[in-house]
Amino acid sequence: MKNKRLVMIPGPTPVVRSIQDQMGRETVAFGDPDFVKDYRELIGDLKDLWETQGEVFVVAGTGTLAMEMAISNTTKRGDRVLVVSHGYFGDRFVGLCENKGLEVEVLKSEWGQIVPVAAIEQKLKEKTYQAVTVTHVDTSTGVAAPIEAIGRMMKQFEETVYIVDGVCATGAEPEKVDAMGIDVLFTGSQKAFGVSPGIALLWAGPKALKRREALGTIPEFYVDFEKWLPIMQDPSKYFATPAVNLVWAMKESVRIMKEEGLENRYARHLKVARAMQQALEGLGFKVLADPGHRAVTLSNLVYPEGIDDGLFRSTLAEEGIIVAGGLAAYAGKMFRLGHMGNIDMHDLVSVLATIERSLHRVGYPVTLGSSVGSFMKAMLD
Ligand SMILES: Cc1ncc(COP(=O)(O)O)c(C=O)c1O
Repeated sequence: MKNKRLVMIPGPTPVVRSIQDQMGRETVAFGDPDFVKDYRELIGDLKDLWETQGEVFVVAGTGTLAMEMAISNTTKRGDRVLVVSHGYFGDRFVGLCENKGLEVEVLKSEWGQIVPVAAIEQKLKEKTYQAVTVTHVDTSTGVAAPIEAIGRMMKQFEETVYIVDGVCATGAEPEKVDAMGIDVLFTGSQKAFGVSPGIALLWAGPKALKRREALGTIPEFYVDFEKWLPIMQDPSKYFATPAVNLVWAMKESVRIMKEEGLENRYARHLKVARAMQQALEGLGFKVLADPGHRAVTLSNLVYPEGIDDGLFRSTLAEEGIIVAGGLAAYAGKMFRLGHMGNIDMHDLVSVLATIERSLHRVGYPVTLGSSVGSFMKAMLD
């Protein structure tokens, strides 16, 4: 008999039944008054929950589209951008900005560590940058950037727009747009919102909106804030077809978040992450991220000596659990396990038990039940 399949990669994350049901509804016209009402409520809730006096954009697309939207609306050809990179997704901004004709400088950390806030401040004091990008959680390393401290520091640099990639963080790691000095925050539907892929979400604070205005006409069309602003302010208007069923799914996701409470949701993610990380360390894995900068959304687990990545992950998959491999220099040396969104406690226990079973099957010594016991104990404390 085959086990139920659990997709535990760091996005897409498991989609709960009530969200799936929204995606399975009969699609209506985007001008349907009930749909317009739902879309308007979703936009209002997102603005309130992430606390901005600016605007939120809910458009069909992925996280990468949102990255492009953030850069396109805040910079013009020849501008200078500082990319703070803690891994693969931080680096993604480099190519994106270079293609746009921006002058890019990069501050990189060792994988697993962060660029110190003082190093960013030093760079910003040396010359003027029109934008700084920071990836809140880099999915390749499992490192969480100190976005609040960076935002506090950035307040002295009036001419610099602060862009935060929240793709692997928003909805799980604490974020408040205006209070944290963030000018642009964005994410995708498939991570901590627990919806299928296909929606890009972007919050633009007052400073980012002013910057967009100052740019005049921009070369991009679909991602232009000015094309979408009339729709975000009045969703009965049309610019490009909204992803009707995904908008409903997002609305259900936000309803779940409101029911749980964002602060409770953040606390739950923290508790689960630390319990999972401790349990997995007990089995012999090493968490790549420094203890002071570990994300709550996923764990990047470096193999102990003697485990073959391909064999381990295919054994896990046979047992029903799908995890992601390491990227770049960590390909073959680590696996990545997502534990964000509307994750189920029964599933987490099963994941640990299955990891133990798979370790046993590939010949690695394991005390069966040890990680499960450690996790359950930590969750009860
Ligand atoms: C931190 C981060 N930024 C950006 C992206 C790109 O998002 P997408 O794959 O939805 O285009 C990802 C994808 O995993 C990510 O983890």
